[in-house]
Amino acid sequence: MKVIAHDRYGSADELEWREAPDPTPGPGQVVLDVHAASVNPLDVHMMTGTPMLVRLGAGLRRPKLTVRGADVAGVVTAVADDVTDLAVGDRVFGMARGSFAERAVASAGALAPMPDAMSFGEAAALPVAAVTALQGLRDHARVPAGGSVLIIGAAGGVGTFAVQLAVAMGLEVTGVCSARNVEMVRELGAARVIDYTSEAVVDGTRYDAIVDNIGSQSIGDMKRSLVDGGAFVIVSGKKGRFIRPVDRVVGATLRFALGSKRAESFTAKETRDELQELLGYVERGELRPVIDRRYALADAAEAVRYVMTGHARGKVLIDVVA
Ligand SMILES: NC(=O)c1ccc[n+]([C@@H]2O[C@H](COP(=O)([O-])OP(=O)(O)OC[C@H]3O[C@@H](n4cnc5c(N)ncnc54)[C@H](OP(=O)(O)O)[C@@H]3O)[C@@H](O)[C@H]2O)c1
Repeated sequence: MKVIAHDRYGSADELEWREAPDPTPGPGQVVLDVHAASVNPLDVHMMTGTPMLVRLGAGLRRPKLTVRGADVAGVVTAVADDVTDLAVGDRVFGMARGSFAERAVASAGALAPMPDAMSFGEAAALPVAAVTALQGLRDHARVPAGGSVLIIGAAGGVGTFAVQLAVAMGLEVTGVCSARNVEMVRELGAARVIDYTSEAVVDGTRYDAIVDNIGSQSIGDMKRSLVDGGAFVIVSGKKGRFIRPVDRVVGATLRFALGSKRAESFTAKETRDELQELLGYVERGELRPVIDRRYALADAAEAVRYVMTGHARGKVLIDVVA
């Protein structure tokens, strides 16, 4: 099968379109024919090996898993003996190890069956970004219906899902993005949109929660922009070569130690339950992926380069089966 793989940490120039042996399922796993994948900043971290902390899990000197890609949608072609809840022929989506490939192996528990009406591209756009948005709002912001949320980075993969989910949860959304995306974020349901290129993000308004996908504002300003009892949800901080954004999480923890306001950071966990909860929003017409660009598998390095600009608009897809 063909894959997009690399043997060394580095830029997207390291990614090669090459042959690899077909995967076989280990205990609890299935193999799927990949129809579509999507790109996340996670793939960039795994490709560059930065921040250096990721190498503790991904391989100290070189990547242990050489095929990149995580988000996936496709058709099951083989199941391990102990997998009883998925079968050959099922259309599924979720997380796989190395989804920038014609076939990939995945834990059965990280996949969910897809509704018939959903395309592989739409399904592949969801896992990492939409689960992150869901967990950020539901588990960390924890704002009851009628409350307010500021979403910084509202036009990206996580942000476009977060705006829609927050609206579906009954929250009043203020989104932050650049001028060219203001109309799109408004169409997704934001009551107010701040263009960070011409307006101040921090303007004295106080919110019940802030979901921060970017890390562009000072921690002090974030704390001042919350009501008493409000939550600062750190999805991301400014990126660095070594430990960033961990320093921002530590800084926020210290800064929020006193008083009623909370700072919380988290790593999203993509499970079948979470994927199925997202499908509920999709089926009610409350959530849809915004697809920016689509690339063929052979051009996956270009797709990753585009995401590395930091200005993708919603999701970037890789179509493995045209
Ligand atoms: N904690 C977790 O488990 C978890 C999970 C997933 C992702 N993440 C992290 O969350 C971050 C967002 O992920 P993503 O998939 O949404 O990334 P993405 O799709 O690459 O985000 C791109 C978006 O960022 C916006 N942006 C860039 N600079 C901005 C600024 N100064 N202010 C406001 N918006 C700005 C851009 O909007 P404009 O073009 O309008 O500027 C663009 O639409 C990444 O750092 C990722 O590593 C964390």
